[in-house]
Amino acid sequence: MKKFRVGLVGVGSICNGAHIPALKAIPEIEIAAICDIDPKALENTKKNLGNENVPAFLSHKEMLEKRLDLDAVHICTPNYAHSPIACDFLAADIHVFTEKPISMTRAEAAKMLEAEKKSKAVLSVGHCWRYNNEMAALKKFVDAGRLGEIYYAKAISNRRRGIPGWGVFCDLEKQGGGCMIDCGCHALDTALWLVGNPRPVSVSGCSYGKLGRNKEIADMGGGWSWDRDNFNIEDFCTGFVKFENGLTMYIETSFAAHIENDYFGVQLIGDKGGATTAPLKIFTDENKVMLDITPHYLQPASPHADEIIDFYTALSDGSEIPIKAWQAYDVISIIDAIYESARTGETVKL
Ligand SMILES: NC(=O)c1ccc[n+]([C@@H]2O[C@H](COP(=O)([O-])OP(=O)(O)OC[C@H]3O[C@@H](n4cnc5c(N)ncnc54)[C@H](O)[C@@H]3O)[C@@H](O)[C@H]2O)c1
Repeated sequence: MKKFRVGLVGVGSICNGAHIPALKAIPEIEIAAICDIDPKALENTKKNLGNENVPAFLSHKEMLEKRLDLDAVHICTPNYAHSPIACDFLAADIHVFTEKPISMTRAEAAKMLEAEKKSKAVLSVGHCWRYNNEMAALKKFVDAGRLGEIYYAKAISNRRRGIPGWGVFCDLEKQGGGCMIDCGCHALDTALWLVGNPRPVSVSGCSYGKLGRNKEIADMGGGWSWDRDNFNIEDFCTGFVKFENGLTMYIETSFAAHIENDYFGVQLIGDKGGATTAPLKIFTDENKVMLDITPHYLQPASPHADEIIDFYTALSDGSEIPIKAWQAYDVISIIDAIYESARTGETVKL
């Protein structure tokens, strides 16, 4: 692999917990600068990196001005900052890997695609669910035509109780929404990718905030206790999407709901076979026998590390990056339309 000098913007939980370990494991990568609006986060990250001398900045613009010969940046800020920061780095021809969702709105994502078009650099998004070992295995069956024409898909990301209490996850202004934009985007991206990213044409949806402000319900403690007085996002949300090729998709997601168990997965129905994940099963007919196919063993995967290795391998080879900005644009376009439909009660045409 070629050598890369990488900058990190927004050095909080996911950056320290997932990006830094993944980057440190690639010998060709040097973490050459860090940036956060919180000086404490910069200090913690210097310690985590074992490098007190890494150039550290309180604003991404300062980091850009110093230039530092950066080849790429990872944006791990809350959602509100993904689009403006990505556009600034793309304008300087620095590759961008931003955390999911690509942005808070479709309009912000459109600016990022425009910035990528004008740039010599590329934009990719951390839709890491694709790297889950079941999803990766299922994709091979789908691409080999084992399910035939897929005409229905379900994308589910349901937590019985999992409202993030750290950072700004419960702040509509800084996140753009609740469970749908935060976790639903993973399930939605993966389902879209599995079925070959067809063009969405219409969207309807509903969102609810029934549990987040309730002081009587339990929480999971630690980072999973949230500020109930200032909770202003949705904790349950559904969407229904029609696609140009005739596919329909249902999306369901919760931060908190009275359900038996958490569930994170997809269901696909095609004219030759169907599938569910978590656990992975494929349903089909052969010789007039209805078959359930289950894997005996799946190679373990490290989704965060694997998506980052793939990104730099593609940059190094000059091949196409695996997670394309236009795919993440479709994800946020659908989510934006689900929120609009929830507000207006109307179906939204895309
Ligand atoms: N792929 C995944 O599975 C996954 C998991 C968790 C979080 N995320 C995404 O990562 C992002 C961050 O989540 P987190 O849990 O690390 O949050 P966090 O609150 O722990 O960290 C965010 C950091 O960004 C800093 N920040 C805020 N605004 C900034 C700005 N304008 N410039 C520079 N730094 C800024 C904050 O001070 C904080 O240190 C979110 O977009 C979230 O959706 C993805």
